[in-house]
Amino acid sequence: MQLFITVGLTTLFSCLLFADATPPEGIYAPKCRVGEGLYDPAQAAVVPWLTVDLDLPPEQRYREIYGPFGAGMKEVIDTIKMMGTIVTGDWLIPLIEHLMQYAHDELFPSKYAKEIDGIAEATGLSVADLSMMNIYYELSRFCTSIVAENTNGQVFHARNLDFGQLFVWDIEKKSWHLTEALKKITVNLNFVKDGKVIFKGTTFAGHLGIITGMKMDQFTLSMNAKVKPDIGNVIKWLTGGYNGTDIHFGMWAEREVMEKANSFQEAKEFLSDIVQLAGCYYILGGKNHNEGVIIVRNETDVLDYVEMNTESGKWYVLQTNYDPDQEPLFIDDRRTPGNKCMMALGQSNVSASGIYEVLSSKTTLNKVCFRIFY
Ligand SMILES: *[C@@H]1O[C@H](CO)[C@@H](O)[C@H](O)[C@H]1NC(C)=O
Ligand SMILES: *[C@@H]1O[C@H](CO)[C@@H](O)[C@H](O)[C@H]1NC(C)=O
Ligand SMILES: *[C@@H]1O[C@H](CO)[C@@H](O)[C@H](O)[C@H]1NC(C)=O
Repeated sequence: MQLFITVGLTTLFSCLLFADATPPEGIYAPKCRVGEGLYDPAQAAVVPWLTVDLDLPPEQRYREIYGPFGAGMKEVIDTIKMMGTIVTGDWLIPLIEHLMQYAHDELFPSKYAKEIDGIAEATGLSVADLSMMNIYYELSRFCTSIVAENTNGQVFHARNLDFGQLFVWDIEKKSWHLTEALKKITVNLNFVKDGKVIFKGTTFAGHLGIITGMKMDQFTLSMNAKVKPDIGNVIKWLTGGYNGTDIHFGMWAEREVMEKANSFQEAKEFLSDIVQLAGCYYILGGKNHNEGVIIVRNETDVLDYVEMNTESGKWYVLQTNYDPDQEPLFIDDRRTPGNKCMMALGQSNVSASGIYEVLSSKTTLNKVCFRIFY
């Protein structure tokens, strides 16, 4: 059984990895677009704001709010399955579904399992498919995150998502199919406790965690996946190898740190200490001077901190999907153009519109999906 799982998951994810190795825009020269007046704040209104009441029992928290997104979620799940089927044939998806049901029943923390039950009830989607969706993003996020402080001491935290690049190219719409599907289910959430918004997050309907978030008046956070998914760890996890360990998924951890930490420093410590299923990069911003850091994580340890230090000219931190001390894959180098573009912008021009333009530039963004500002 274990070998079977290994072969299945390895096939699926290595094919996705291979797909990622040839992003369509990667062949074009980088183009920095600062100063082009691209930013239209009105576009932000397209993403709906919903409220998650953390005082409700887990089954009820997402039921009402995610219910209306059932069709969009199904489209995303079908796209993931279609890719799996194209790549491997018909045998893989039933196996994955079986494993995901098992993960939900035996391995997920019970509050998350119950939250998934509520979403399944409201949308008619299966628990297995929703569990797959929750784990899937863990291994497939390609993006750029920036925290920058301008000369007035204002801090901006922004990120984009390049998910779509992994998926089906829609020639007519000149876009990736999953990107289109994901746009429809992108939501902003207000997480409420005792009737008060304690943090905000952006995610995809159906997901329990967040992609990026802000703890009110304290810190902002985004997380980028490493380019190499840790498939071995997923298999180890599914086969009971982490029994007894409090293991964290990145997007769920991002929500947890919002619930638990009450300052930039506490958040930094939380994100440095947890044991994770996969290595990743946390990009953390704070409200105070020089509060900006990239935490480079493997499963158990912090490998590096890249800190903001405006006094020595480091007025921003920028992270893609490669370790800061490693050369990015040459066809997917979003870091070098991203840094050049930030320099072209200059510290005094850091603003929502300035950073939007950096994130809209080739090849910081392989394909413009959406960007998030709070
Ligand atoms: C995990 O360990 C506990 C006690 O050590 C055991 O009862 C349980 O069956 C184990 N679960 C799995 C999935 O191996
Ligand atoms: C994670 O990093 C620590 C510290 O460098 C190292 O000891 C450990 O082996 C690493 N874990 C993996 C799985 O690479
Ligand atoms: C930055 O701002 C200055 C004025 O403060 C302006 O002259 C310049 O064109 C701006 N540069 C960019 C790249 O937006």
